[in-house]
Amino acid sequence: MNKHIVLLPGDGIGPEVVAQALKVLRAVEKRFGLSFSTEEALMGGCAIDATGEPLPEATLEACKKADAVLLGAVGGPKWDNLPKRPEAGLLGIRKALGLFANLRPAVVFPELASLSCLKPELVEKGVDILVVRELTGGIYFGKPAGEELREGLRCGFNTMIYNEDEVRRIARVAFAAARGRKKRLCSVDKANVLEVSRLWRKVIVETHAEFPDVELSHMYVDNCAMQLIINPAQFDVIVTGNLFGDILSDEAAAVAGSLGMLPSASLSGTAAQGGTGLYEPIHGSAPDIAGQNKANPLATILSLAMMLRLSFAMNEAADAVEHAVREVLREGRRTGDIARAGLQGEIVGCSMMGDLVAAKI
Ligand code: IPM
Ligand code: MG
Repeated sequence: MNKHIVLLPGDGIGPEVVAQALKVLRAVEKRFGLSFSTEEALMGGCAIDATGEPLPEATLEACKKADAVLLGAVGGPKWDNLPKRPEAGLLGIRKALGLFANLRPAVVFPELASLSCLKPELVEKGVDILVVRELTGGIYFGKPAGEELREGLRCGFNTMIYNEDEVRRIARVAFAAARGRKKRLCSVDKANVLEVSRLWRKVIVETHAEFPDVELSHMYVDNCAMQLIINPAQFDVIVTGNLFGDILSDEAAAVAGSLGMLPSASLSGTAAQGGTGLYEPIHGSAPDIAGQNKANPLATILSLAMMLRLSFAMNEAADAVEHAVREVLREGRRTGDIARAGLQGEIVGCSMMGDLVAAKI
């Protein structure tokens, strides 16, 4: 069972952080007697530079054949004003691989609790939230979309649309995830205003019948944005649409405190259904620190752990990676972005952090 992984290092700090995850993967191979083949492909700004396209056909083909994909980050000021932006590559690959389910866990590591933007008494209650974001529908992809003259005025428009199948399949992923956790699911919508949300809510309620052991609640997105700040401990799993999920997952990350620590998985179904999974840190390409050996590779390393668990069902290996990260943090080793929390700790570079985690496997 030689699994094949496509690496998409991307732009900015992407190549540095992916290189560290690769070190950890090699350590996992040794420790558990596994073997993975890997292949690099271009996506994002680097792909635009090399081929004119943010998501070249060759990259897409390689990803379709792979068992899983590990992505660093894409984008940067260099490509911001091009007609085709690096971000289009990311949206394109999500759509092309059918990655409709985006899982973004936001967990406060006890060693890093002081990094949260919240008061200690709020964080001490424990923050362990899984945001399940619908990733290939909603206003990101709805048609019609465009810019045109209407009655002499320039208008920009998008369409927020979900069909019942799209809602049902993301609902099932979220209910199943909740079932494996604290069995609480909060569906977030704007059903007091939007028709699309009213359908969303109906289908979520219908799907609940398949998961009667999970407790379901509903929240309007504006209230959820507030509740995440005033009482994050109330949440277990949140399920929501593409745009709300984009916003709330960043907010949950700030609550957890450290963008540099948070992994994500984008899946085309549950593990049992197969399909290629794409794993990436939720942080961006951080062009300001790119190439300086300052980036935090832990989010990418933890994304690798998610890959081992969700795509390959290698739970023991995934546990080992997560455990190694915690050990390194416990010893007070910190990259610059998470150093505030560990005053007695030692600041290490990106590459050293990769070595330290690999050594603990
Ligand atoms: C994310 C990012 C992307 C999104 C951008 C880069 C297109 O913000 O993954 O959350 O909006 O989905
Ligand atoms: Mg985002």
